[in-house]
Amino acid sequence: MSERKMRVLRTIGAYRRWLDSRDSAEGPVVLVPTMGALHAGHAALIRRARRIAGKEGTVVVSVFVNPTQFGPKEDLSRYPRPFAADKRLSEACGADAIFHPSPEEMYGTGHSVWVDEGVLSAGLCGAVRPGHFRGVCTVVLKLFMICAPDDAVFGRKDYQQCAVIARMVRDLNLPVRLRFEDTVREADGLAMSSRNAYLDADARARALSISRGLLSVLADWRGGEERASVLKGRVRRGLEQAGAERIDYVELVDGESLAPSSVAGRGCVLLVAAVFGGTRLIDNVLFE
Ligand code: PAJ
Repeated sequence: MSERKMRVLRTIGAYRRWLDSRDSAEGPVVLVPTMGALHAGHAALIRRARRIAGKEGTVVVSVFVNPTQFGPKEDLSRYPRPFAADKRLSEACGADAIFHPSPEEMYGTGHSVWVDEGVLSAGLCGAVRPGHFRGVCTVVLKLFMICAPDDAVFGRKDYQQCAVIARMVRDLNLPVRLRFEDTVREADGLAMSSRNAYLDADARARALSISRGLLSVLADWRGGEERASVLKGRVRRGLEQAGAERIDYVELVDGESLAPSSVAGRGCVLLVAAVFGGTRLIDNVLFE
């Protein structure tokens, strides 16, 4: 693996020529879609992709800060873009190539077709970020069409995104196997995120209330507490005590339908979105 030289491909044409030059009969093409600013969570996805691809297969990491999934007042322009570090991390985790297109390459032709998932996208982050999942679905479908993966790896940190993409793959009969990887956390529990880079020490300390709350009510659930109102209330109080500037939601849902649930059964997910130090963070725990 490490002897292979990783390629950086910036155009669809260059990517296609490179992929065609490889002996594709040898193993699957496995894609890890990202927006860059890669951290240990992304690294776990890329290593998983390498294991799925095996020695002979192909691991592609896409690095593209997708403008269409950002709202007008969101952080598109200041989203971190440390591409040299992203290259090093991708190569160290066994990627064969990075697909790193410009916005013009992806959307420069008077783009007018969109993918809209109509049910799972409506609540949670979709309710607070209108158009977000339309941008996500559209870019992920485009990346699937361009990169032609057999498998694609996503992180459960973005639980709703996983559900929405799974629905798109199912409903549009996309020939891609989805693989989901558990959330990677800092030693103290904070879910890794490219946006953690925005947090100063004070906001970061307060943001810990998200993972602390989620992980402690998961323990409460294992101890027998199943009432959603009690579990959600404990998490919400922790966020309030830590001085969250905004709580977008604390919700318990069925892990498949994303419908709110009043009882925490196996397969439910408790999700949080909250703002600390001006940065909107999300996290979740799966009850299993
Ligand atoms: P991004 O936020 O860069 O995340 C890329 C992938 O890494 C996603 O599948 C995400 O769930 C996963 N990931 C992020 N933090 C993680 C963590 N702490 N542990 C495990 N996995 C983690 O999600 C996006 O980009 C975009 O919406 C994208 C799918 C690339 C479409 O633009």
